[in-house]
Amino acid sequence: MNTGEHDPSRVIGPGDTVLVTGAAGTIGRTTVRVLREAGLRVVAADRRPDEEGSGAERTLVGDFRDPGFVAAALGGPDGPVDAVVHLAAIPAPGVVPEDQTLIQNVHGAYLVLDEAGRAGVRTAVAASSMSAYGYAWAGRDLSPPYVPVDEGQATVAIDSYALSKVMSEQVGAFVTRRWGLPCTLLRFPFVGEGPRLDAHLERVRHDPGSNRRELWAWLHTLDAAGSILAVLRSGLTGHRELNVAAPDSSSDIPTAQLFAQYHPTTELRPGIEEFGSSLDSSRATTLLGFTPHHGWRGTPEHSPAGT
Ligand SMILES: NC(=O)c1ccc[n+]([C@@H]2O[C@H](COP(=O)([O-])OP(=O)(O)OC[C@H]3O[C@@H](n4cnc5c(N)ncnc54)[C@H](O)[C@@H]3O)[C@@H](O)[C@H]2O)c1
Repeated sequence: MNTGEHDPSRVIGPGDTVLVTGAAGTIGRTTVRVLREAGLRVVAADRRPDEEGSGAERTLVGDFRDPGFVAAALGGPDGPVDAVVHLAAIPAPGVVPEDQTLIQNVHGAYLVLDEAGRAGVRTAVAASSMSAYGYAWAGRDLSPPYVPVDEGQATVAIDSYALSKVMSEQVGAFVTRRWGLPCTLLRFPFVGEGPRLDAHLERVRHDPGSNRRELWAWLHTLDAAGSILAVLRSGLTGHRELNVAAPDSSSDIPTAQLFAQYHPTTELRPGIEEFGSSLDSSRATTLLGFTPHHGWRGTPEHSPAGT
């Protein structure tokens, strides 16, 4: 690890308290569990109650567009939480009108991260998305100039969800400048496990082209939560975006073949493996010492005999 980018006083460890926003969601639930298993104390907050119970030390129900709720969630009887994991967002286009996707996501990110900086929280992690590059929900086919896509690729966003992620990343940069709050934004592709992942893989297998705009990248929910924990433990300083994707694709067709067919203008850079991911997560691996390792190939439900 590059110790120049790590500060021991920012390391979050057992006994420290972490606010998880969006705790009742797909990634939030697993994150709460993984953080608790790592010995962290968790404040789980969401605008919808978690029917299954979060298992967190404290559970709060409210909206992160409400400054009073944000302040209450960040504070507590023993002072501010040590860290924030901001996952609360509209997670895709089409859930609410386009302008609301943008406004709600940026508003929530601003209130949570800015108030965290003001309160003296030691570190922040937020879910961005590979959608920030602009391909996933563009509404028309756009191809990356090269794969694997790394963090140096500029956004070509033309949808409001992608724009909300680009702007939330800018909020992260802003709070680092304004408050010195370290802020890491994780660019996840499709995240899932269990029936959600099975249904996704089945769609890709049935029609590989249906996933062309997401570039066949994916991530197991446990690895999304694991990467969040790795950021908290890392003591990373400053602001950055990091890709975090499974090392392989969601398709049983070789990656080179997929790109030749669906993105013929994309340059396939050397080093991409036969079924390798189109997202380059090497920066996260270098900085966090974390590599996603949950896969789907060879699992009973996806073995050739089961097809
Ligand atoms: N799941 C994926 O495939 C995926 C991929 C890339 C990025 N992401 C990002 O990860 C984050 C979490 O996604 P998810 O899949 O768990 O979504 P989700 O919809 O399952 O969970 C999000 C949770 O946030 C809550 N929420 C939304 N706005 C809120 C607000 N203003 N105040 C309080 N609570 C609010 C919702 O009630 C929900 O429980 C989001 O930022 C999403 O954009 C998800």
